[in-house]
Formats: sequence, structure tokens, C-alpha cells
Amino acid sequence: MAFIEAKNLTKIYTRGTEKIQALHKANFTVERGAIIAVTGASGSGKTTLVNVLGCLDNPTSGSLVIDGQTVFEDKVHLSESALTIVRRKIFGYVFQKFFLLPTLTVKENILLPAVFQPGLRANSARLTEVLQMLGLDKRANHLPGQLSGGEMQRTAIARALINNPSVLIADEPTGNLDSKRSEEIKNLLLELNQKQNLTIILVTHNPDLAKIGNQTLELKDGIIQ
Ligand SMILES: Nc1ncnc2c1ncn2[C@@H]1O[C@H](COP(=O)(O)OP(=O)(O)OP(=O)(O)O)[C@@H](O)[C@H]1O
Ligand SMILES: [Mg+2]
Repeated sequence: MAFIEAKNLTKIYTRGTEKIQALHKANFTVERGAIIAVTGASGSGKTTLVNVLGCLDNPTSGSLVIDGQTVFEDKVHLSESALTIVRRKIFGYVFQKFFLLPTLTVKENILLPAVFQPGLRANSARLTEVLQMLGLDKRANHLPGQLSGGEMQRTAIARALINNPSVLIADEPTGNLDSKRSEEIKNLLLELNQKQNLTIILVTHNPDLAKIGNQTLELKDGIIQ
């Protein structure tokens, strides 16, 4: 059985009387250790797809099985507390907008998910490891406002990795970076995939970055091509 199995995954947003079909009957599987590139024009449903896949949003219909556990099946989904455990244990998220907390330092932002993960709270060894991995050791005590765009992006990636997730979901991780920084992020993702068998779901408009995917989900108007 694949690590993740999606069947007829559908998301319809409702705004007043308007219905927007953002994702239509998506069928796909993700093997452990794969890199999946999610591509498509703006508004094609990429963020919707990864949000549903990452259990941040409920699908309107369809089913999603993660690591043998049925998370959604038609309209039925796990309880909120069970979903929270799936989110914490399985996934690390890098959002399209970084969502760094401006009043917390780099170090504190990175540690934020660990605060909610019992047992990891005092794991300073893991913090040192991710700071080094992302080249942020000299920026640990800076506030986000004192960082470059690339450093903010790397802080967001470090935060996604602090709890050692099985799957990294990265929505446009190089969206705000120049080509040199994008290349660095690309190499880092490849290294994490190869050395740690991290499964990566990567939303990107950057064709060079999309090439690292061993599978591509190309969306058009919410439909996988
Ligand atoms: N919360 C929401 N309520 C209503 N419509 C939404 C909502 N979120 C997204 N949409 C609509 O759903 C469609 C898919 O949006 P989505 O954010 O998934 O696209 P995307 O492929 O990630 O685009 P981009 O490349 O610009 O980030 C769009 O038409 C968008 O306007
Ligand atoms: Mg998006």
C-alpha cells in the first residue's frame, strides 16, 4: 500500500451562493521517500491540494489514507484531536507566506512546533542540527525583520523540519528567492530526500525546481492532467 492514497479528492469552496470547485476528483498515490512536484497556473488548485493532503483543510468529498490510516472518507473525517496528531507526527509545512512570528527570534520561531510536541521541548541538539543544516547558526537570535528573504525562507523550512516529519509540504519554497538562493534550497531538499528519506510534496512555478520531482501532479482548473 502506498504511503498516501487519495481517491476522488474534491474541494468545493462556497462563498455566498458562489461555488468554486478548486479540486476535482484527484486520484494519486505518494510513495514514502518520493518527491512530488505540484505544478499549474495560479488559481489551478495547488495550495488547495496540498492543504487537503496535509490535513489542514477537509475535502468536500473523496478519501485520503495516510500510512494505512483513513483520515477522510467521503464526508467523515478523524476527530480534531486525531487530526492534530497526524499533522504533528507526519507533516512539516512551509507555507507560501512564511508566517514567521515577528516578535520571536529565529531560534524561537523554529522551536515553535516543538513546543506543542511533548518530549521535544528541550531538544536543543535537534535545534542546533537544523540551524546548521539551514545555515542559520549565526542568525539564531535575530528577529525575522532583521533577516533577508532567503533567511526567512530557510527559517520557515527549519521550523517545518524541527519535529522530524516524514513528509515535508512546501508551497512555493523558492517563490521569493533569486536564482542562487533557489538553487541552494533545491540542493537542500534533494539532500534531505536522499539522506533522510524525507518525502517531499513541492508546489512550484519554477521549472528547474520541479525537475527534482520523481512524479509530477499538474493541475488545471482543479483537475490533475
Ligand atoms: N478559502 C477560499 N474560499 C473561496 N475560494 C478559494 C479559497 N481558497 C482558494 N480559493 C479559490 O480556489 C481556486 C484554487 O486556489 P488555490 O489557492 O488552490 O490556487 P493555487 O494553484 O495555489 O494558486 P497560486 O499559484 O496563485 O498560489 C482559486 O480559484 C481560488 O480563488
Ligand atoms: Mg497557492
